[in-house]
Amino acid sequence: MEYLCGNFIALKPTIHPIDKSRLSTVDFNNLPFGKVFSDHMLVADYEDGQWKTVRIVPYGPIELMPAISALHYGQAIFEGMKAYKNAEGEIFLFRSQENFKRYNLSSDRMCMPAIPKEIFIDGLKELLKVDSDWIPNLENTSLYIRPFGFATDDYVGIRPSDSYKFIIFTCPVGPYYNQPLHVKMSEDFTRAFPNGTGEAKCAGNYAAAMLPQKLAKEQGFDQLIWLDGKTMSKIEESGTMNLFFVIDGTLVTPQTTGTILHGVTRDSVIQLAKHHGWKVEVRDIYAQEIVDAHFAGLLEEAFGAGTAATIAPIQSISYQGKRMELPPVEEAKVAPLLYNMLNDLKLGHAPDPFGWLEKI
Ligand SMILES: Cc1ncc(COP(=O)(O)O)c(C=O)c1O
Repeated sequence: MEYLCGNFIALKPTIHPIDKSRLSTVDFNNLPFGKVFSDHMLVADYEDGQWKTVRIVPYGPIELMPAISALHYGQAIFEGMKAYKNAEGEIFLFRSQENFKRYNLSSDRMCMPAIPKEIFIDGLKELLKVDSDWIPNLENTSLYIRPFGFATDDYVGIRPSDSYKFIIFTCPVGPYYNQPLHVKMSEDFTRAFPNGTGEAKCAGNYAAAMLPQKLAKEQGFDQLIWLDGKTMSKIEESGTMNLFFVIDGTLVTPQTTGTILHGVTRDSVIQLAKHHGWKVEVRDIYAQEIVDAHFAGLLEEAFGAGTAATIAPIQSISYQGKRMELPPVEEAKVAPLLYNMLNDLKLGHAPDPFGWLEKI
């Protein structure tokens, strides 16, 4: 069946297969995160007000002019999602519609053209079919999917580009973090401001976080916890994860007010917890409240939640020069339970009352 947009341009990708697959060169038992790339990628171009030339081609270099505005002014956005294969060989996408919606929220904020579902979702499914052998099914592995778009006008000047590229490539991956995390609240740098771009998945947000994260690494921390840019007192998020705390039996997470990313994992955790009748609070969380809860013996767990990181337990949190050692993560109840529940659901091994899973 031909997929047509309003302008009668075919959006179904043409397929140009690789001559020789690289699959046999990959050690699936030892997959580093983000360094191994599947054979193919999907590419589409936006010109003259429409998306065109959607194609699946071998993963490889792309030719660009030096003046493209993405490189100078950062008109560039991305998404991160995963496909899963279970032991029975079934392939699933998890909540891909949410990533599609979020991509277009980011594109709106960055003055970029929306991507149609026919390219983002249907094109992705075609790509997954072509590279289905690249989806690993060993424990704790998955296929990380990176859709991204950027401005390609060959023009020096600050205005929204007239031309863009959209690409999806994929990487078979193992775990993002192997160890419980030691994190520090960022007191010198902030990530986002009210009415800024915090909730958009735009490239610049991540570039601006690199120096603070590098400095924190040099001090021995795995990640930073960002505080709100206005008062530097409220907890926002961490790296590429939203944050959860278990305080005196209640699961607590910061509310999204425009400065933090609407994480798909965050939303899934909230919905799962509510579904199981747990006590959940979505609200402002003050850094001082975490300190007080810790010293009162009420801070039971802290963990990050994200597509790449999955559920990442936090072992210590440092703030104002003091390090708070949380109860041993081996004794944690909530984070491992959520990890297992989400994992079973994503592999089609648990009921899916929410309709989150899509079999490819
Ligand atoms: C800044 C930020 N926060 C949170 C997340 C977690 O979002 P998700 O669960 O959709 O991966 C991500 C990852 O995309 C991120 O980049």
